Amino acid sequence: MQLGKLTIDSPFWLAPMAGYTDAAFRSVCHDFGGGLFYNEVAVAQGLIRDSRPSWHLLETRDDEGPVAGHIYGGEPDVMATTAAMIEKTGRFVAIDINAGCPVRKIVAKGAGAALIRTPETIGEIIKAVCSAVSLPVLLKTRIGFEQDCSRITEIAQAAEEAGAAAIAIHGRYAARQHRGPVDWEQIRAIKARSTIPVLGNGGLFTAREAVDRLTENGLDGVLIARGAVGNPWIFEDAERLWRGEPVRERSLAELRSVIETHLSRLVELKVKEARCRRRSGFDPDRGTALHFRCHLIQYLSGLADWVDIRRSMNTLTSTTRIMQAVDTVISRQRPER
Ligand SMILES: Cc1cc2nc3c(=O)[nH]c(=O)nc-3n(C[C@H](O)[C@H](O)[C@H](O)COP(=O)(O)O)c2cc1C
Repeated sequence: MQLGKLTIDSPFWLAPMAGYTDAAFRSVCHDFGGGLFYNEVAVAQGLIRDSRPSWHLLETRDDEGPVAGHIYGGEPDVMATTAAMIEKTGRFVAIDINAGCPVRKIVAKGAGAALIRTPETIGEIIKAVCSAVSLPVLLKTRIGFEQDCSRITEIAQAAEEAGAAAIAIHGRYAARQHRGPVDWEQIRAIKARSTIPVLGNGGLFTAREAVDRLTENGLDGVLIARGAVGNPWIFEDAERLWRGEPVRERSLAELRSVIETHLSRLVELKVKEARCRRRSGFDPDRGTALHFRCHLIQYLSGLADWVDIRRSMNTLTSTTRIMQAVDTVISRQRPER
């Protein structure tokens, strides 16, 4: 896919997920392919105030894939200034505007999903950001805010006219958060009349679903979100299926190795996080273990006989303990043939 001067090799992108898509997880996904990756959403005002925790959300690794700087805010000038600061870091290939987050405190500030109600503001933000940066500007949004009140046609038109390089559409209404059916019909209709690349998102939990929704709707790409948690090889599987190749079997040894790699990269990130915390006493290894539990549950979800480990998750307070638990679970699986 071509986004201005930027070429993205794969139509399977990792969607932004606050609390998950940090540099460690993105890099693990990138080990298996994937097109574009987004950082966890950062607030524009926080970056302008030079808040260290906000800037930490924009931490990247040298060995990861192309990353879009994903930001939220409701004021065009603030978003433009922030986008220019992000471009200056030289670490991002695009700027992405969040116009879909339904979290109450973000909506209350007139940002995230609140923008769905005023497509003209989305247009103003994109226009302002496009004038402030030379990077391609993307929009991630939803089909509407209130159930059955679609605004996506006006939003897509506003984004296109304002100079967006691509639009990613989550096919659920903001009021439904991340639940319920995904309206691929509406996404397909936008693609049919759009002159810029259109990507679809929502409910893609297997590589097969990702490939089918991409091809049957004639889309330029799809964003995989929860389907990648504990399953970073979904990108490799999807790319193989898309090329008509069979997917690769994975061994327990590979699962262990991916978990270990993910953990060690998360420790590196937490060491950096420790430096931007005001209060001392933050232990990067413990911080990693606590943060990693939500990933661990998903990594182990397909395995048998680990209910006891799941119940005692709160005792996994170090990366050593996490790996011991992983080894215990792996040792209980039937020998691989
Ligand atoms: C824990 C979590 C955090 C999320 N954070 C963001 C975010 O920061 N920005 C955003 O645009 N979407 C965010 N999303 C929405 C996802 O990018 C995606 O649109 C949504 O999960 C639907 O895809 P799925 O059904 O495949 O999970 C988040 C979703 C989850 C589950």
